[in-house]
Amino acid sequence: MAFIGLALDLLLLLLSMASPASSCNAQEKAFLLQFLAGLSQDNGLTASWRNDTDCCEWEGITCSGDGAVVKVSLASRGLAGCISPSLGDLTNLQSLNLSHNSFAGGFPLELLASSSIVVLDVSFNHLSRALQPQESYSSVSNYSRLQVLNISSNLFTGELPSAVWEKIRNLVVLNASNNNFQGLMPSSFCISSSSFAVLDLTHNKFSGSIPVGLGKCSALRVLMAGHNSLSGPLTDEIFNVSSLEYLSFPSSGLHGVLDGARIMNLRDLSHLDLGGNMLIGEIPDSIGQLKRLKELRLYRNHMSGELPSALSNCTDLETIDLKFNMFSGELSMFNFSNLINLKKLDLMGNNFTGTIPESIYSCTNLTALRLSRNNLHGQLSVRIGELKFLSFISLSFNKFTNITNSLKILKNSSTLTTLIIGNNFKGEAMPEDETIDGFQNLQFLSIRGCSLSGKIPLWISKLKKLKVLDLQGNQLNGPLPAWIKSLESLSHLDISDNRLTGGVPAALMDKKVLKTGMTATHIDTDPFELTVYTVSSLQYRIPTAFPKALNLGNNKLTGTIPKEIGQLKSLAELNLSFNYLSGYIPQQLCSLTNLEALDLSNNYLTAEIPLALNKLSFLSKFNISNNNLEGPIPTGGQFDTFPNSSFEGNPKLCGIMVNQLCGSAEESAVPILSREQAERRITFVIGFCAFFAIGLLYDQLVLSKFYG
Ligand SMILES: *[C@@H]1O[C@H](CO)[C@@H](O)[C@H](O)[C@H]1NC(C)=O
Ligand SMILES: *[C@@H]1O[C@H](CO)[C@@H](O)[C@H](O)[C@H]1NC(C)=O
Ligand SMILES: *[C@@H]1O[C@H](CO)[C@@H](O)[C@H](O)[C@H]1NC(C)=O
Ligand SMILES: *[C@@H]1O[C@H](CO)[C@@H](O)[C@H](O)[C@H]1NC(C)=O
Ligand SMILES: *[C@@H]1O[C@H](CO)[C@@H](O)[C@H](O)[C@H]1NC(C)=O
Ligand SMILES: *[C@@H]1O[C@H](CO)[C@@H](O)[C@H](O)[C@H]1NC(C)=O
Ligand SMILES: *[C@@H]1O[C@H](CO)[C@@H](O)[C@H](O)[C@H]1NC(C)=O
Ligand SMILES: *[C@@H]1O[C@H](CO)[C@@H](O)[C@H](O)[C@H]1NC(C)=O
Ligand SMILES: *[C@@H]1O[C@H](CO)[C@@H](O)[C@H](O)[C@H]1NC(C)=O
Ligand SMILES: *[C@@H]1O[C@H](CO)[C@@H](O)[C@H](O)[C@H]1NC(C)=O
Ligand SMILES: *[C@@H]1O[C@H](CO)[C@@H](O)[C@H](O)[C@H]1NC(C)=O
Ligand SMILES: *[C@@H]1O[C@H](CO)[C@@H](O)[C@H](O)[C@H]1NC(C)=O
Repeated sequence: MAFIGLALDLLLLLLSMASPASSCNAQEKAFLLQFLAGLSQDNGLTASWRNDTDCCEWEGITCSGDGAVVKVSLASRGLAGCISPSLGDLTNLQSLNLSHNSFAGGFPLELLASSSIVVLDVSFNHLSRALQPQESYSSVSNYSRLQVLNISSNLFTGELPSAVWEKIRNLVVLNASNNNFQGLMPSSFCISSSSFAVLDLTHNKFSGSIPVGLGKCSALRVLMAGHNSLSGPLTDEIFNVSSLEYLSFPSSGLHGVLDGARIMNLRDLSHLDLGGNMLIGEIPDSIGQLKRLKELRLYRNHMSGELPSALSNCTDLETIDLKFNMFSGELSMFNFSNLINLKKLDLMGNNFTGTIPESIYSCTNLTALRLSRNNLHGQLSVRIGELKFLSFISLSFNKFTNITNSLKILKNSSTLTTLIIGNNFKGEAMPEDETIDGFQNLQFLSIRGCSLSGKIPLWISKLKKLKVLDLQGNQLNGPLPAWIKSLESLSHLDISDNRLTGGVPAALMDKKVLKTGMTATHIDTDPFELTVYTVSSLQYRIPTAFPKALNLGNNKLTGTIPKEIGQLKSLAELNLSFNYLSGYIPQQLCSLTNLEALDLSNNYLTAEIPLALNKLSFLSKFNISNNNLEGPIPTGGQFDTFPNSSFEGNPKLCGIMVNQLCGSAEESAVPILSREQAERRITFVIGFCAFFAIGLLYDQLVLSKFYG
């Protein structure tokens, strides 16, 4: 029997190979060739799509047993041109995938009108012409079988009118995100299609309020429409859609409150993202009934009140992001013990008080903890060592004390990559303790604004993976140690606003990571667990995105600017301002072709400005004011864009910027900086410090003040 079975199989196999059962129909072949003819770039497709061969054998084509084309799969094929309407004439075509190509022009309505296509994916192209005009929708039959339509990541404009969706009665998924659609959000999907489940309209220009019709979508699971220009309240309709699992309206201009009685209708909700809106009020207690909630994002609203204790009933929670609101109350009143799945907790920029809750150490899967910019105090607990996966911790701008203790506790964490603890520990001493060894994987260390006394400690020299070091705003004295060179990955160093003495160390000029001409030396793109924010509202997702910078401003550095500085070819920002540097500006600075900001102001630099600085084509911020420079100010290039204030306080400079013509007569007429002038200059500096907290001045040049 087995033999007969085998023979039969063999026979069938032979038959299927011999009979050209799937030889394609001439008419369908012609439609496909029309499509081919519409391509301006076929990337070798013609070699396969030949008129003299069976089109069922062509690349990307799948036929049914009787030779009808049922599938066209040409995603990521390097194609350009327009999409021929002829594809709509393939009467058995069920699936068309043209995503990730460079198709431009319009989207043929014939494809929507097709009565066979079930899955249509034209995402990631350059299609622009809207699905207009509206009248043409009359051609869309009620026989459409379309279930999945992905037109995301194109350049579509115009409206996405409701009229068309009413006819597509089987639609399940519509993804129109990342386009330029405008007008009202369409809403009529569910009038016709009772199985409509996924709607993504994120990143468009829709306006108006959340449409009423959505309340009728009884099968809607995913509703995403963030980053549009919506307005109005969070409407009741949404909360009637009890099937919702994803509700995402970030940055959408919505206002109102999170109504406790309504939100508990959404019992299947796993993701709630309403960040970046204008919501007020508290988090309702009934949130505790959303047992499947994994992500709760209400960041950047105007919400207030305490964390409701009921939230601890949402034991599936992995992410809580409430940053930049007005939540308050004693944080340790909230019991985190049940949230054993919590990975990311971000409470930055609220008004929580008290100490870090002990219960948080039960969340053993926590990878990121950000409590910066609150009103917390106390010391770190050794129990933080129980968080075996902790990679990111930011506690800056609170009132924590005992930095020695904090570092001794944290150093044992081998998973920690990012430590931001500045603006705490006011006036304590920088631990110089040799026993602070550890931090094996630390890449980002910020202890700024603490007024710590002491020296730059030796233990930092052991942080071999450090990429960013920020010790700005302390009272560290002594020289900048030569071992700084041995931190091979360090590419962003800010030690401004300290009391460092000695010269600008030559060792610093030997940093390989700043020498290599390439701007992207680190291929490694490990992201931060949480995006790091700076005062200038810049956001950084990866450590290596920080500009390559040396900021030694406002110290007591003496001596000259080493000419070896010319080796730091990839440096983007250099700030040596407010020191006691003398000598001339080295010519070698002109070879720092990646330089974007250069601040040498308020020193004792003399002689002429190297004229070739005007060749630095990325230089957008430049300041040499209040030195003793002389001669002509370079002209041309970026020098035509700098304000006069970049040069003032140098009486011997000449040029249009300082209202002093560069002629030999004028030049000789300029007196040498008199004692009076020098004193005036010093008074200016002191006055400036007193009135404007000097740090602000640097931040105009070097963007590195961390929120957390
Ligand atoms: C393909 O071949 C058929 C028959 O040989 C011919 O009629 C038709 O014009 C050809 N089509 C193209 C696009 O060359
Ligand atoms: C289309 O092809 C791309 C690339 O292969 C794939 O990622 C995508 O899921 C496909 N689309 C559909 C609807 O299957
Ligand atoms: C669409 O369906 C409606 C009712 O189901 C019918 O009256 C109408 O004639 C249909 N239109 C077309 C173009 O088939
Ligand atoms: C387009 O959307 C569909 C449905 O969500 C999805 O299956 C497909 O993978 C998406 N295409 C791409 C390229 O992501
Ligand atoms: C929609 O498509 C975009 C890419 O264009 C993708 O990132 C997004 O995840 C898709 N949305 C859904 C709900 O699948
Ligand atoms: C929402 O549902 C409630 C009761 O289930 C109903 O009374 C109300 O009319 C619905 N609201 C909308 C806008 O559909
Ligand atoms: C948490 O859930 C339990 C059981 O579902 C319930 O008894 C309790 O009241 C809830 N706790 C809070 C704080 O809502
Ligand atoms: C927090 O909750 C856990 C688990 O439910 C419980 O064992 C513990 O006693 C609670 N802690 C406090 C301080 O209420
Ligand atoms: C921690 O996460 C891992 C997977 O990432 C999971 O298997 C484990 O159950 C989680 N632990 C707890 C206590 O939730
Ligand atoms: C923060 O809370 C404290 C004490 O609870 C209060 O005095 C202070 O005004 C609050 N600050 C803000 C900005 O709400
Ligand atoms: C700081 O912490 C250490 C333990 O690391 C402790 O010995 C010391 O007393 C603490 N200092 C203060 C002022 O609490
Ligand atoms: C850190 O680890 C060392 C050695 O593993 C251990 O002796 C020490 O007690 C740990 N310190 C803390 C604060 O956990």
